[in-house]
Amino acid sequence: MTTHEELERLLADLTNAHGPTGFEGPVRAIMRRELSPIASAVETDGLGSLIARFDGAAERPRVMLAAHMDELGLMVRRITDEGFLKFQTLGGWLDQSLINQRWIIRTRNGDVTGITGVKSVHVMSVEARGRLFKREDMFIDVGATSRRDAEERLGIHPGDPIAPDSTFTPLAGGERYLAKAWDDRVGLAVMTLALRDLRSGEPHPNTVFAVSTVQEEVGLRGAETSAHHVGLDIGINIESGVAGDYPGITADEAQERIGEGPAIFLHDSSMLPNQRLRDFVIDVAAEAAIPLQFNVLSGYGQDGAQMQRARAGAPSINIAVPTRYLHSHNSIVARDDILNAAKLVAAVVRRLDSDTVERLRAFD
Ligand code: CO
Repeated sequence: MTTHEELERLLADLTNAHGPTGFEGPVRAIMRRELSPIASAVETDGLGSLIARFDGAAERPRVMLAAHMDELGLMVRRITDEGFLKFQTLGGWLDQSLINQRWIIRTRNGDVTGITGVKSVHVMSVEARGRLFKREDMFIDVGATSRRDAEERLGIHPGDPIAPDSTFTPLAGGERYLAKAWDDRVGLAVMTLALRDLRSGEPHPNTVFAVSTVQEEVGLRGAETSAHHVGLDIGINIESGVAGDYPGITADEAQERIGEGPAIFLHDSSMLPNQRLRDFVIDVAAEAAIPLQFNVLSGYGQDGAQMQRARAGAPSINIAVPTRYLHSHNSIVARDDILNAAKLVAAVVRRLDSDTVERLRAFD
């Protein structure tokens, strides 16, 4: 049993960790720490995804669970003569989310804090005040006096990864949580809780491969190699969903609401879930009295898309924890949704025996 205090410690560790796309090391270390004591074996693939195997009562079917370790970030492109950093974005940023924020640059000399400076309103023409800021014009100010100062004293170099500076904070007495990187550290938390649950009961009738993937935000790259490596029979991806429950977003754009249960994606621009697996998950949720929501998104991409078309293909589904304000320094999730998503994943895995998976893998 995981107490709220233990849960918050895990969530704080995962979301506070510095891990932009391609630089997932600190997150991998946390997942290794959490899963090694309960896994049958832990390895990494050639791109860096962490694959933890959990032996159950049978070798097949192979159930792959996945959640991605990387978060949206930046990379140092160059340092100007005056000591300002120009950057490359890593992942799908909205330009307006980049401006006037705090960042942490991880250098060979340690962490450096900086901010994306914004021109003072005092010197702006009236029409310029209404204009949007473009990423090409942005820079990070670390307080350096020159390029040499930034390089030699602070240790900053081209290629250094930059993550949002934002700290895990419980809201509303702990019923909701504010942090950066819920996308997809919340999926890693759900996967961890589900595996603890599975380890505490009867052996599951399959082998589970819990994969913490790399480089999702730049095109689902880690899921491609790790799914091929695992050779899954059936796949469950766990993601941060898109909540559509705050001012300015419509039910036509996103249908999930935070606090009302995990959601399954019925459509996103990367994948359609397997229909039998979709119906199976709906039935399991009803049977276990776990609230379940649905989301039909026009955009979005997620690792399940690579899982379902690895090798000869495998039925796959994406289970999401509704999240407000994705892809920014500050996003919000609900505690109950995390707990219910973990319950749902564990309940589904417990029922994936070879007969069931054979039935789910069949097509009329
Ligand atoms: Co994601």
